[in-house]
Amino acid sequence: MIPLPDDADLLADADAVARAAADRFVALCEASPEGAIAVCLSGGSTPKRLYALLARPEYADALPWARLHWFFGDDRHVPWDDPESNVRAAQDAFGDAPIPPGHLHPIPTGGALEADAATYESVLKAFYGAETLDPDRPLFDLVLLGLGEDGHTASLFPGKPAVEESGAWVAPVPEAGLAPFVPRITLTFPALASARHVLVLVTGASKRRPLERLADGEDLPAARIAGPVTWLLDRAAADA
Ligand code: 6PG
Repeated sequence: MIPLPDDADLLADADAVARAAADRFVALCEASPEGAIAVCLSGGSTPKRLYALLARPEYADALPWARLHWFFGDDRHVPWDDPESNVRAAQDAFGDAPIPPGHLHPIPTGGALEADAATYESVLKAFYGAETLDPDRPLFDLVLLGLGEDGHTASLFPGKPAVEESGAWVAPVPEAGLAPFVPRITLTFPALASARHVLVLVTGASKRRPLERLADGEDLPAARIAGPVTWLLDRAAADA
């Protein structure tokens, strides 16, 4: 078994990971005082089970949809109806979940890469109500993240400038480090760490190698995930 990150829960399989994440999400919503609840969604395939689960009555009936605002930790710079779009993946998975108009905040992808990144930063700052992040007032109630086979998270790829960004909340990524090789837009580590809860969902044997590299102390982007983090891994990923 691969040594697990600090604060990790080992679950039987991908469905159990999705259910554990959904249960934690419902609990944090129930514990949240009044007002908006901001969620930062991750892309890729792993979280699709979670999103579909949240849309099912057993969870959908327990969620305060009128308070929830859904943001994206990154996206591919493609049209929102593109098969590679994280917005499309989330909308397909959420199905007819009762997300009120204006509560889904996709990353804009219709303009120039840098301009769309700047626009999303403005969207986040307008929602937050300030230009700088206050450590005592997180931007998000929940940030969901995944782990790429190269150790990336969001669209923060090894060796790319966005990994080192410490001022901007959102960064353009002209060259992705892993397929799909399309330009990306990503939140930066300061923005992703401004959270009450961070859940990293990792499933499948293909994630053993990045987990081993993290356990060996490699400075992969995923090693820089910060905030109140919990890793939810299945046995296939942990080789357990
Ligand atoms: C993306 C994701 C990315 C993802 C990892 C894991 O846009 O692709 O944000 O960071 O979380 O690449 O992807 P899988 O869940 O598909 O393995």
